Formats: sequence, structure tokens, C-alpha cells
Amino acid sequence: MIPGARIVLLGRQGAGKGTQCVRLSRHFVVPHISTGDMLRAAVREGTELGKMAKAVIDAGQLVGDDIMVGIVAERLDAEDARTRGYILDGFPRTVAQAIALDEITAKSPVDLAIDLDVPRDLVLSRLSARRVCRDCGANFQSTGTDPSPWTCENCGGDVVQRDDDTPAAINQRLDLYETQTQPLIDYYGSSGRMVAVDGVGSPDDVFARLTQAVEQRR
Ligand code: AP5
Ligand code: MG
Repeated sequence: MIPGARIVLLGRQGAGKGTQCVRLSRHFVVPHISTGDMLRAAVREGTELGKMAKAVIDAGQLVGDDIMVGIVAERLDAEDARTRGYILDGFPRTVAQAIALDEITAKSPVDLAIDLDVPRDLVLSRLSARRVCRDCGANFQSTGTDPSPWTCENCGGDVVQRDDDTPAAINQRLDLYETQTQPLIDYYGSSGRMVAVDGVGSPDDVFARLTQAVEQRR
């Protein structure tokens, strides 16, 4: 157990950030903070944020930096994140967000940024087959002969395809990753906080590499 770890997980869309963050958060007993999950919850609840974000997400575009920074600042101020640390999934996604995160957390900055590295052609096939539980967010892979209706084995919720997992939105997100998010590798590298982890292989193998990278750091 590593109390107080403050970790950012970077990586292409579909690299397995969500899948691995759920496991890392249990393993290290720190909150998993996913901006994508927070936005999808706002869409489901029909809040003002959700109404604004829905079209942006479905088009594979990025929600504005100021809005995202505000949401994350509020979440990091909660008791659990202040005392236990956190694993950030999907934030920061632009250099402006990373700079803002360092300002928000100036007293206890992010310790480690991990780039979960998976090539573009492989994430394309993972995302096309991805199905998610609408209630608990668990990930599944479609085999082409899926149960219908498909209910989640963890919570009984509906398992569906994400609205932004269309070929057009996936390609748009991957293009944005290269121009907006990849520069973060240099941003965290220049302050000695960056480590790359190979995200190709079974989820168990990738998880073992990730825990090793975190433990080596401490
Ligand atoms: P978000 O929800 O963060 O989506 P994303 O970045 O597109 O990333 P994904 O969730 O698609 O990929 P993942 O790496 O989590 O992969 P997963 O574990 O699911 O954001 C959605 C949208 O919200 C954004 O496009 C944007 O509009 C907005 N947004 C969010 N944050 C924002 C921010 N900071 N600023 C601005 N806008 C923001 O895995 C993928 C699939 O592969 C799954 O089916 C899984 O089962 C499978 N898989 C995982 N690991 C393996 C493995 N090792 N082997 C085989 N299959 C695997
Ligand atoms: Mg995700």
C-alpha cells in the first residue's frame, strides 16, 4: 500500500487507462478520478455541464480547459484526495491543464506521470469492440455474438456501446491526443516525473508493469 500517491495516467484513448485505474485504485487504496466518467455522469443526470458536454464528447472534441480545471480542482479538494492522494485518468489532457494542475497542487504536487503506451492501430480495434456498463462503468469487449440484452456481471446494469465510440469520433480523439496530449510527455519529463509503461499485453501483465513502475518510484 502506498499512502498519499499522486499519479497521473496518460496514454492514448483506448490504451486501457480506465481499466487499469480501477485496479490501481484498489491496489494502492487511492481514489480513481476519471474526468470522462465525471462528464458522462453529468450527461446522465442532465446537469447544465452535462448538456454542454454531450455534443462535445460525442464529436470527439475536448471540453474547455477552464471548465475541466474547475471540476478537477473541486474534486481534489475533497477529503479522500487530500489525505490519500489520487490516480487521475483523462486529466490533464493539454499542457494548459497540466500547468493549472501544478498550480492547484503546488503544496503537494503530482509525484508521477505514467504514459501507458499502446500503438494507434491496436487502440482502434480495442475501442471499436468496447462495450461499457451504463451504471458502474465496467469495460467489456464485444465478440460479435453478444448477449441481447447484455447485463453487467458486476452490477446488473445495461452494457452498451459508448456514444463516442464511433469510427469518426475515435479518429478525432486520437488526432487530438497527438497534438494536445502527447506534449505532456515532455512537460512531465522535463521535471523528472515521467515514466513510460508498455500497455501491450494482457491486462494482468500491464497491471504488473504499472504497479512495479509506481513501487520503484517510491
Ligand atoms: P474519456 O472517458 O477519458 O475517454 P478517452 O480519453 O477517449 O479514453 P478511453 O476511456 O476511450 O480509453 P481508456 O484508456 O480509458 O481505455 P479503456 O480502459 O476503456 O473521455 C471522454 C471524453 O470526455 C473526451 O473525448 C473529451 O471529450 C471529454 N474529456 C474527458 N476528460 C477531459 C479533459 N481533461 N479535458 C477535456 N475534455 C475531456 O480500454 C479500452 C478497451 O480496451 C476496453 O474495452 C478494454 O476492455 C480493452 N482493454 C483494456 N486493456 C486491455 C488489454 N491490456 N488488452 C486488451 N484489451 C484491453
Ligand atoms: Mg477511459
